[in-house]
Amino acid sequence: MTKMRVRESLLPFALPDVDDAEIAEVASVIRSGWLTSGSKAAQFESEFAAFVGAKHAVAVNSCTAAMHLALEAIGLRAQDEVIVPTYTFAATAEVVRYFGAKPVLVDVDPVSLCIDPAKVEAAITPRTRAIVPVHMGGRSAEMDEIGATASRHDLRVIEDAAHAFPTKYRGRMIGSISDFTCFSFYATKTLTTGEGGMICTDNEKWADRCRVMCLHGISHQAWKRYTAEGSWYYEIVAPGFKYNMTDIAAAMGLVQLHKAGRMREQRERIARRYTTAFRGLPELEPAPEAPAQDQHAWHLYALRLNLDSFTIDRARFFDELKDRKIGASVHFIPLHLHPYYRETYGYKPDHFPVASREYQREVSLPIYSKMTDDDVQDVIDAVTEIARQYLR
Ligand SMILES: Cc1ncc(COP(=O)(O)O)c(C=O)c1O
Repeated sequence: MTKMRVRESLLPFALPDVDDAEIAEVASVIRSGWLTSGSKAAQFESEFAAFVGAKHAVAVNSCTAAMHLALEAIGLRAQDEVIVPTYTFAATAEVVRYFGAKPVLVDVDPVSLCIDPAKVEAAITPRTRAIVPVHMGGRSAEMDEIGATASRHDLRVIEDAAHAFPTKYRGRMIGSISDFTCFSFYATKTLTTGEGGMICTDNEKWADRCRVMCLHGISHQAWKRYTAEGSWYYEIVAPGFKYNMTDIAAAMGLVQLHKAGRMREQRERIARRYTTAFRGLPELEPAPEAPAQDQHAWHLYALRLNLDSFTIDRARFFDELKDRKIGASVHFIPLHLHPYYRETYGYKPDHFPVASREYQREVSLPIYSKMTDDDVQDVIDAVTEIARQYLR
């Protein structure tokens, strides 16, 4: 067997694909003197809306803010319930708690790790107001089934698309399907503005409400009505939040948007190389591809270990990757295993057996457009070497 190349430095788990073009655009905004939300944020909104096929897009400073505003726009109240997959990040359920409402956790599909549509129906009660599917790792949840269930019960669908840009479901862009779609532009995401987010909706009333509430509940329309008062006039129509996106961030977002297709193709190529390399090893389960008419954003490459075939556990697998200078992560520790959700709602590991089991054996490998061919090969070599060395 040929000896593995030893890396000199750690391969980071994630790195943004940011170059001189982003730096030049950000510098030009800084030189312009207009730093906060202005023409760049507006341009980013309209270009993003056109890209995903939404009528309206509202730029905010995180996906968490986007989901909070979407729930506010539908008028969520403390006595309400919202259905959320347990296999997700903190933000998806915490925004429901902002209203004092209850996030009702649901188990996931063992292949996609997205919410199991068959289990959504059973979680619906007279208090349910919305379903928040998460497109795990950039692969779409089953939107037709979720949409049909929502229509039957008159529920709103708010997609957590933090991982899902650019993702397609049955040929349609994520962002053009449900009542709301919320994107994240956090530093590790497939399009980054450092921190940032976007709310997409086709409903003008909801979009207007999100615009008002993302900036202190101040109505931009008010001063137009009271022209006698002049352009300094504004009205507070509700106690809003401070969630607006700056022009500095939006300038970066516009450059990222223009190269989003190229960055996704590069991530897809990396995913294909991983899958080809791992397919023959029974101790490894490659990340599943998306169905044929879908498009996977490949934000994450979720490898799964067949732990029965290993003499080591996942923690040791991580140590072995680290020894070979490969960064990795786990997505996610399901919500029902965290103290807050256990203690508040009495959730136990066996309430969601699929999520509890899959979490134990998931390893997210580096997948980003800045990776070189050698970086990808280093990951493949490290993973296959560990798999061979510790095969039971
Ligand atoms: C599934 C999911 N939803 C929401 C978020 C929150 O995104 P943001 O950091 O932009 O608020 C994340 C962040 O990692 C996420 O992974």
